Amino acid sequence: MEGSIVLFGPPGAGKGTQASVIVEMTGKPQVSTGDMLRSAVSMETDLGKEAKTFMEAGKLVPDSIIIGLIEKRLTEEDASDGVLFDGFPRTIPQAEALSRITLVSTVISIEVPDDDIVDRIVGRRMDPETGEIYHVSFNPAPAEIVGRLVQRKDDTEETVRSRLEAYHDQTKPLGDWYSSLGILVTIDGSGSIEEVGKAVSEAINQK
Ligand code: AP5
Repeated sequence: MEGSIVLFGPPGAGKGTQASVIVEMTGKPQVSTGDMLRSAVSMETDLGKEAKTFMEAGKLVPDSIIIGLIEKRLTEEDASDGVLFDGFPRTIPQAEALSRITLVSTVISIEVPDDDIVDRIVGRRMDPETGEIYHVSFNPAPAEIVGRLVQRKDDTEETVRSRLEAYHDQTKPLGDWYSSLGILVTIDGSGSIEEVGKAVSEAINQK
């Protein structure tokens, strides 16, 4: 498939979980601004120190920081045939900047009601060794690795509410923007991980 793909949706919709389906089908590398920011925070770089306050408050990191990160990432060799964006763009200025630097051919929007989001996020656990995403009830980790799982600092009920607010105010309008360009595919994300994965692969196959 020509160009880049965007995985779009509220926090906890399952973007990170479903990214592997698309990476496997298309060979495009996953570019997650959330992962890039978390790595900068843990390395205590200047950018990480600046981003940390926004992330812990559940607010969006300023556009200038994010656009700079993406511009740099897209100069890497593996990005030459397009990438899979996960969690980017999240504002109209980010989408406008992106349209100036690369072609976006498909936007897959995973829709999940707010009430389900809180349960998904509060129960999320990550394996720091593999980056694998689990959930205490919906996708439990194998017993032998449960002891090493970690919870993201912004995965508290209080922060989820701010993240959802940021999503509705600043990110959701982007869905209409991409819809008007005729490249938005909407998927019901409220089914099981397998059901959503099937819908995602059908969307990619139809392109
Ligand atoms: P980011 O890391 O991008 O977080 P997010 O968008 O809030 O998305 P999540 O990673 O929380 O969720 P997801 O959709 O990937 O869901 P997952 O697959 O893990 O951003 C974090 C912060 O960084 C932001 O708040 C902001 O501060 C900053 N930031 C990042 N990008 C930015 C940008 N472009 N501009 C400005 N600021 C930016 O699934 C969640 C859980 O649900 C898991 O436990 C999973 O196992 C479970 N699950 C998944 N699918 C299902 C299913 N179908 N049924 C049941 N459970 C499921």
